[in-house]
Amino acid sequence: MKRETILFCISTLLVSAILLNSCSTSEKLSEKSGVQLWGENCSRCHSVPPPSAYSDYGWEIIGTHMRIRANLTYYEETKIVEFLKTANEN
Ligand code: HEC
Repeated sequence: MKRETILFCISTLLVSAILLNSCSTSEKLSEKSGVQLWGENCSRCHSVPPPSAYSDYGWEIIGTHMRIRANLTYYEETKIVEFLKTANEN
């Protein structure tokens, strides 16, 4: 094998390793629980209304509305809304 070929192979491996590593980092971010995401995101713009402030249906509507405002993913919104629905006791 030529020296250039070997160098090319090594650098390709390095780049793949870096890319794979960054993927696992973003996976960790999405492992946050609903309550964690709620605490980190929903108090950025206003005081956080308690879960009991709205019914299950109310939280679904607000979830969609605030997902757009807060720039959350659908997955994050679902986790937050699931948490609010279990915590609102109605
Ligand atoms: C980027 C800023 C921002 C973030 C982040 C944000 N909100 Fe809001 N929120 C607003 C604004 C502005 C209003 C009032 C106007 C409106 O309703 O759009 C509001 C209103 C509300 C209301 C009052 C009901 C209503 O729809 O008017 C609730 C409840 C609420 N937010 C919950 C949340 C929850 C839960 C989160 C986290 C998922 C969140 N907010 C994240 C900006 C934000």
